[in-house]
Amino acid sequence: MVLEAIRTRRNVREFTDKPVTVDDLKTIIEAATWAPNHRHTEPWRFIVLAKDGELRKQVAQIVHDWTYDNIKNPNQKRRIDSSEAAKREILDAPAFMYVYALEGPNEEVTRENYAATACAVQNLLLAAHSIGIGVGWSTGKPCLADVRSTIGAEPDWQTVGALYIGYPAEKPEAKRAPVDDVTTWR
Ligand SMILES: Cc1cc2nc3c(=O)[nH]c(=O)nc-3n(C[C@H](O)[C@H](O)[C@H](O)COP(=O)(O)O)c2cc1C
Repeated sequence: MVLEAIRTRRNVREFTDKPVTVDDLKTIIEAATWAPNHRHTEPWRFIVLAKDGELRKQVAQIVHDWTYDNIKNPNQKRRIDSSEAAKREILDAPAFMYVYALEGPNEEVTRENYAATACAVQNLLLAAHSIGIGVGWSTGKPCLADVRSTIGAEPDWQTVGALYIGYPAEKPEAKRAPVDDVTTWR
């Protein structure tokens, strides 16, 4: 079962209109919190931006403006289209959240916290997949734009990603290199 879930989970960025309930979000966040974490720091923090909420709209606009200002090789139409698409994707996602890792007292613990939080996100992805929900993990535009003060993320938290969440409207293809290509047996 777990192996099957691991293999069939995909990064999903196209969703149906079906809402994701707060109960389902709590279920997948709770699964995230069972991730391994050294020293029991429980270093993950989740900030959920309600669909149609004021904060979601503000974040969508910030990401829009960041995209407009930063897109590479801009021509005017591409800038406008990309900025609008980035904004739309945030507004339209049935659920949307940011995930952060707490800074530790030193570099070693900060690194452990980041790793633990990445494990937490994988737990969340697999838990979501197990109840038919897809998630798109992004460290792109929504994380590069400065949304921290708007959403109440502390300045020293490390960004682990933004998660677009909903019922999949697509089934992306994926493949992986064979085990023997990535493993050395000594
Ligand atoms: C740390 C991290 C950051 C990612 N950032 C992005 C992103 O910014 N944009 C995007 O489209 N996908 C992003 N992804 C999703 C990957 O592109 C995706 O996992 C990869 O294509 C493999 O597809 P699969 O997850 O369906 O197996 C990210 C994944 C991880 C783990």
